[in-house]
Amino acid sequence: MRGSDVNLVLLSILFTARGHVGEISQLNDNDLTVEHSLELTQSMNLARQELIQESCQRFPPKWSLENLPDSQFEHILVDETHKLLYCYVPKVACTNWKRILMILTGKWNDTDVLSIPAYLAHSPGMFRNLSSVPRPERDYMLDSYHKMIIVRNPFERLLSAYRNKLEGETQSAKYFQDRVGRRIIKAFRENPSNESLELGHDVTFREFALFLTNKSEEMADVTNNEHWQPITSLCHPCLIKYSLVGKYETLLEDSLLTLHTINASHIQFPRLTRTSGTSEKLYRYFSQLELPLIRKLYKLYWHDYAIFNYDLDNIVGFDLG
Ligand SMILES: *[C@@H]1O[C@H](CO)[C@@H](O)[C@H](O)[C@H]1NC(C)=O
Ligand SMILES: *[C@@H]1O[C@H](CO)[C@@H](O)[C@H](O)[C@H]1NC(C)=O
Ligand SMILES: *[C@@H]1O[C@H](CO)[C@@H](O)[C@H](O)[C@H]1NC(C)=O
Ligand SMILES: *[C@@H]1O[C@H](CO)[C@@H](O)[C@H](O)[C@H]1NC(C)=O
Ligand SMILES: *[C@@H]1O[C@H](CO)[C@@H](O)[C@H](O)[C@H]1NC(C)=O
Repeated sequence: MRGSDVNLVLLSILFTARGHVGEISQLNDNDLTVEHSLELTQSMNLARQELIQESCQRFPPKWSLENLPDSQFEHILVDETHKLLYCYVPKVACTNWKRILMILTGKWNDTDVLSIPAYLAHSPGMFRNLSSVPRPERDYMLDSYHKMIIVRNPFERLLSAYRNKLEGETQSAKYFQDRVGRRIIKAFRENPSNESLELGHDVTFREFALFLTNKSEEMADVTNNEHWQPITSLCHPCLIKYSLVGKYETLLEDSLLTLHTINASHIQFPRLTRTSGTSEKLYRYFSQLELPLIRKLYKLYWHDYAIFNYDLDNIVGFDLG
């Protein structure tokens, strides 16, 4: 999409959004919960892979697999027994998939996925990742293993990270507010209160957006955080040919396909009820941002949008037409 097209799309979104405040529809739950047959899921998976290939040809990556630094393989977790590589993306069902990986790799004994404490699944050193695998072995794995990635609408994922880490009240949220929130307030709020400066607990979504789109070197250590880094930067889908491409919108079916593919169908993927009102939330938060700021944010994630075939018209939950 050329820059001017993007502007046009964004403009129409905002105007459409303003005109339809009262009738924003929710994501269609039927689309999310219907269990397609494995064959149908597999054909969707193959179509997604083709689309990734096509976009990658249109926007060739800067790196090649040969000169990609080892650190860039850190998000790819290894299960040698089932020949599975999983590039985990925070805010896209990664806790449940890490739990499953614990079961698959024998770090947990029974198969009740939700009985595994989340902190354990996220504990450092729990899994082998591809960054420490010697080159020849890594190439072999990349060549012959199943490779899974699960993606999500970039703005939806971004909002989820903001709400979870900067608005939240969990231990992990407090940690982020202390480490990142305080710096955001110091840099982007005029006349902040002492309390805000000390706690970093009340960063607004607009301040968060200003922070993300600000290119200052000074903040680079916190802007490059896995919770809001683009999926393409974490998982390099143009260099690594993922053979199982799941989407958050079809999480259950896609997860069942992976479990089937690696012969681990005895593990039950948790059937969680989905949070409702996603589109209302998107509208509520993104309408706090001025158009140029949304445009800058979109630029940060446009690669994710293009490669994983997401549309901006999804961001507020209705069609542009
Ligand atoms: C990847 O593995 C290396 C070496 O074991 C480790 O130092 C690093 O923390 C791991 N990275 C992640 C994101 O788990
Ligand atoms: C799993 O169960 C076996 C036998 O009951 C036990 O020896 C082993 O320590 C357990 N492993 C873990 C990781 O809990
Ligand atoms: C905020 O902190 C400054 C410097 O520590 C102090 O001078 C000021 O009185 C404080 N303001 C409030 C409202 O507590
Ligand atoms: C980044 O933030 C600083 C400090 O708030 C501001 O002076 C600067 O103009 C911002 N730069 C951009 C590109 O937004
Ligand atoms: C799949 O798993 C079952 C039981 O765990 C085993 O009997 C079977 O041989 C496995 N099949 C393959 C292709 O690995």
